[in-house]
Amino acid sequence: MFPVVRMRRLRRENLRNLIRETRLWIDDLIVPIFVDENAKKRKEIASMPGYYRIPLDEVSNEVGECMSLGLRAFILFGIPKRKDETGSEAFNDEGVIQRAVRAIKRDYPDAVVITDVCLCEYTDHGHCGIVKNGKILNDETLPILGKIAVSHAKSGADIVAPSGMMDGMVGAIREALDREGFSEVAIMSYSAKYASNFYSPFREAAESGYKFGDRKSYQMDFHNAKEALREVELDIKEGADIVMVKPALAYLDVIKSVKETFNVPVAAYNVSGEYSMVKAAIEKGWLGKEIIYEILTAIKRAGADVVITYHAKEIAEFLK
Ligand code: PBG
Repeated sequence: MFPVVRMRRLRRENLRNLIRETRLWIDDLIVPIFVDENAKKRKEIASMPGYYRIPLDEVSNEVGECMSLGLRAFILFGIPKRKDETGSEAFNDEGVIQRAVRAIKRDYPDAVVITDVCLCEYTDHGHCGIVKNGKILNDETLPILGKIAVSHAKSGADIVAPSGMMDGMVGAIREALDREGFSEVAIMSYSAKYASNFYSPFREAAESGYKFGDRKSYQMDFHNAKEALREVELDIKEGADIVMVKPALAYLDVIKSVKETFNVPVAAYNVSGEYSMVKAAIEKGWLGKEIIYEILTAIKRAGADVVITYHAKEIAEFLK
């Protein structure tokens, strides 16, 4: 006790790094990339200042630029030319993501390429599953997710990331991948993905807004934390290699309990709305940009091993 114990002793400038508990590394970060099949040049996303949709033929350059900053892992979202009822462009071997993956792997074989596996950007109704009579069907959606994952794997994806919150999606994808000889392709599941108000800028970015209803019949209720542990447990049993909690900042409690309960790598998605809030406050001069480092560190301190973040490029230089 005081005066014997003085907590301030180790806070001195030259000592504090020695006892630092959490370190954010550039290797912890995954860069999201929106690949737009319709765009001729990069287009800034209005609700995400400083973030762009990238045309297909520039995606490899974008990856190259990130690699030169030291960023090596990417998660790709596609904006396809054509949308239909079943999202068939999502498993077209010549689709926007398949071509993007091949271009990246041709130029940067060492890049870690992760693909988002979902229907919402590819269906005309914008939901993450097949729709019948206004209902989002679960079991009918599973074989399609398997087909998408196989198509991404054929193009060279290292990791597939199902984000549609369909029950059994991880098992269906694992089985489809293994059947086609892709037993080495890993699955990062959006295991505990909440029906969140933080996604709205993404829906502008990826043109994945829905025509009716909402996503509450498949994404989690944000009042629940224990339920996340069940979701994660099931995904691990079905073969998920990495589990994800999404969003991140308002869900640090969930990240922490997932990490403490299971011995698997945990990813956290620092989502579009979290990015937009921070950018808006920085633009107004109400917060300094150091807030970005503090937020990402907090997500890691809560227990995330990897963080998907739109801030990756702007923080990269600082982390070097
Ligand atoms: C698609 C998907 C979404 C996000 C990632 N994958 C949107 C949604 O579920 O509506 C959100 C990412 C973000 O907000 O940054 N299923």
